Amino acid sequence: MTDIISYDIIIIGSGIAGLRAAISAASEDNKLKIAVISKVQVMRSHSVSAEGGTAAVIQDDDNLESHIYDTIKGSDYLADQDVAELLVKQMPFEIYQLEHWGMPWSRKKEDGRIAQRWFGGYSYPRATYAQDRVGFFEMQTLYDTCLKYENIDFFNEWFCTSILTYYDNSFCGVTAIEMKTGEFIKFKALAGIICTGGAGRIYSFSTYAYSSTPDGLDMAYRAGLALKDMEFVQFHPTGILPSGILITEGARGEGGYLINNKGERFMKKYAPNKLELASRDVVSRGMMKEIDEGRGFKSDGGVDCLKIDLTHLGIEKIQERLGGIREIGIKFSGVDIAEEPIQIRPVCHYMMGGIHTNIDGATEMNGLWAAGEAACNSVHGANRLGANSTGECLVWGNITGKLAARYVLNRRNSGTSSPDIQQQQVIDEEKRIYDGIFRGRGQINPYEARMNLTDTMDSNAHVFRTELGLAEGLKKVRELMKSQWRHVDDTAREYNTNFINVMELDSMFRISEVILLCALNRHESRGAHAMLEYPKRDDANFMKHSLAYFGGPTREGPKTDWFPVTFTHYKPEERHY
Ligand code: FUM
Repeated sequence: MTDIISYDIIIIGSGIAGLRAAISAASEDNKLKIAVISKVQVMRSHSVSAEGGTAAVIQDDDNLESHIYDTIKGSDYLADQDVAELLVKQMPFEIYQLEHWGMPWSRKKEDGRIAQRWFGGYSYPRATYAQDRVGFFEMQTLYDTCLKYENIDFFNEWFCTSILTYYDNSFCGVTAIEMKTGEFIKFKALAGIICTGGAGRIYSFSTYAYSSTPDGLDMAYRAGLALKDMEFVQFHPTGILPSGILITEGARGEGGYLINNKGERFMKKYAPNKLELASRDVVSRGMMKEIDEGRGFKSDGGVDCLKIDLTHLGIEKIQERLGGIREIGIKFSGVDIAEEPIQIRPVCHYMMGGIHTNIDGATEMNGLWAAGEAACNSVHGANRLGANSTGECLVWGNITGKLAARYVLNRRNSGTSSPDIQQQQVIDEEKRIYDGIFRGRGQINPYEARMNLTDTMDSNAHVFRTELGLAEGLKKVRELMKSQWRHVDDTAREYNTNFINVMELDSMFRISEVILLCALNRHESRGAHAMLEYPKRDDANFMKHSLAYFGGPTREGPKTDWFPVTFTHYKPEERHY
């Protein structure tokens, strides 16, 4: 095989954002050649595990203004308000577009129209759903649609390692390893879209697939692009024990409630109006307070937790709307949610931060966009509302796909040819991954180093944070990072998952460092970032986005900066639920 593969547009990542971007770009012009490169098989992208819903205004008695306001209030006023408006205005189209492509939305019995359910932080039940397997059905619908386009090619189980750039800060391709053969290959293209999802596997207790490591974020960071708002990590209230697998917020939307060891529905203390359907940051903090003050249960494994009770919903409703989580409870916790409450605790679920983009998903590099959870276009600010993530992937998949296609068409029309790859970048990358990692024979087991890292993130950058905890976490991560963890036992070329895992760990260190440092720099509590020393939101000093740039190979750490928030007409207020 040639070691350079040429396309017009490269999409990295095959989740909801990546597939939506591919369809959008492919439908702009059927002569555009589009590659979707993914380290997993398409239907193993983490998007398939989205459960409960996709928010959109589609009922006659709902309205766009309300969805925009809920999103901005949920963000603790750090969302860029024009971006939140764009999400909300585009979402109804995306719901019907999916339906026209075959999405089996659950429907109302009375009139057969698309059904919606409650989710946390909303003032209207606007989460559109397909039982509790929303991500699976959205992915299947998008993948089926992609297969109709002859100009979309899939490179499954290819691991991208770096972004290649041209002299004028333009994207010109990526380097990647074909996992099946172990070949190191250059992809050349005029445009790229990063859709590599979130990186929640930097925490041990996590709802994310094991593949959700920060390779995509790290590629952008190493290429000199900023990561934005990385201190904001979302903890979903209901992860089961011991696995961390998600019990959808749709369970509370359908009437499930949380109890402590006294049998109390404790959320009435923390959110008297919305109870369990307050925004996630509020519910998770309420839960951790109950646990910290001794009103939790102990799981079989000795972990402090609470319970969610769904037994009153009845088996019929559970089977119809929550069949997936019933199966998950039985298989992974040995508990039938139709018969008894199940143990849960807050679990790492989403990253509000990501690659810094503008409202259109454009990064700071010409010809490169980012969409979905990997991006931070600031639609969610300091806290995302449930059901706004699959929506974000659809909306910005669509926007970035179109913009990338038009960019390529314009360049072609003006006679610009694809710039040549700069060989030195490829040589440097080969050195970094083969000399630096593949041939590494460090003394420390990288899998142990990985566990130390993810346990540190669990302990030191959780729902409640302290300066001391974050500083100690940062120190520990930096020590681990400097230790001899670069060790690959497997010397085979083909399917060397050991090598891939150690490259993933390399990215996990850098991104964890960014999260801890940005968290230390934010001396306030806002959204998902709750500092015990600074319990209040401080709009005077911290109504701004954080940025982190890679400081270079001889650096002491990331270089940090701030970036303004965009307001339209929603005035920051104290949040109450
Ligand atoms: O609870 C859930 O089903 C998760 C949805 C989301 O994160 O948007």
